[in-house]
Amino acid sequence: MTFTSPVQGLTSRAVDQAITAALSTIRRNEQTFGSAYPGDTTIDDRYHPRPADGIFPLGGNRGWTTSFRTGVLWLAWELEHDESLRDAALRDARDWERRVRAEEDLDTHDLGFLTSLSTIPAWRLLGDEQARKASILAAEHLMRRFLEPAGIIQAWGDLSDPLQRGRTIIDSLLNMPLLTWAGEETGDPRFADAVRRHTVQLHDHILRADDSTFHTFYWDPETGEPLRGATEQGAFDESCWARGQAWGVYGFALNYSATGDERLLDAARRCADHFLARLPLDQVPFWDLVYTDGSEAPRDSSSGAIAVCGLLQLAAVETDPGRATEWVDRAHAILASLIEHYTPARPEDSDALLLHSVYDLPKDNGVDEGTLWGDYFFLEALMRVSRPEWTRYW
Ligand code: GLY
Repeated sequence: MTFTSPVQGLTSRAVDQAITAALSTIRRNEQTFGSAYPGDTTIDDRYHPRPADGIFPLGGNRGWTTSFRTGVLWLAWELEHDESLRDAALRDARDWERRVRAEEDLDTHDLGFLTSLSTIPAWRLLGDEQARKASILAAEHLMRRFLEPAGIIQAWGDLSDPLQRGRTIIDSLLNMPLLTWAGEETGDPRFADAVRRHTVQLHDHILRADDSTFHTFYWDPETGEPLRGATEQGAFDESCWARGQAWGVYGFALNYSATGDERLLDAARRCADHFLARLPLDQVPFWDLVYTDGSEAPRDSSSGAIAVCGLLQLAAVETDPGRATEWVDRAHAILASLIEHYTPARPEDSDALLLHSVYDLPKDNGVDEGTLWGDYFFLEALMRVSRPEWTRYW
């Protein structure tokens, strides 16, 4: 599929219609799935229950993406104030709490994604004390992944796994808000210190001199010495995986707010400049930023949706008013294109809110499909532009 149409401006009518369509799909998916979790991505535009694996039944709560469904339900409830949506979101939050307490599939830094969109909103929006305690427990689990002397949070796997030891990925920037929140709630300085040290290491090593980013970066776990960048989901080690760059825009902006470290504001700007300079005519990136107009490579609309949220967050903390206007204008252009070209013509045509994303092209996983995180960030983007007073979950 090729996309060549230039983008029309973002209108409030288009945003309202996109929200109405999204809410219709969310309600239908809730009727279909109930407490069962869909897979990470659609298959031919339809979600199916998450496959069974080991101790996990069909539709069970495992992996890093289940909270995006929960986050979509919280957003839908905030948009519509329908109690059945709140109850569905709280059901998922309770299930995350159960998973944390049972220590099921927690060997990942994605505890941040999983908690920030499930039990933390349950605490913030409903004052649910049980959810608050579970969130602090999840943050303590994440702290176990903090490696001295490198001062980084290991991304994947068991801490004794030699293949993963000392490895970070840029996505981790979105896992830091859990630690920031836990530090504010408990007053324990370990959390903020981990955020400060991890984010500076990513600033210094995962961000390249040309403002592109590595997907992953290794440190020597014994000496703390920075070793090398490498990719996992990008085209090649030196390429710039589009979603990683989008995580950089949003993640550095969020962590600048948390730490006040000006280097992180500069990093968010640099990630944004590179991302925006590599966009094709229709403003939605190819899955890796080595591809540009004229390529037949698939797009990753989820990167576009993450970037919209990131650019709007960057605009909110930007100290240069001219640049702030630029970030908002560019975010609106991407969102206009997502609405116009990357949503189903009718809600019943797909279970996904956002079409044409890529999960992991090198592994041929979820190519040109909807994704749970693409749906979440698309709805967050619509929320941000339609309700500027909305308080972010991160
Ligand atoms: N955090 C994994 C991904 O973006 O695919």
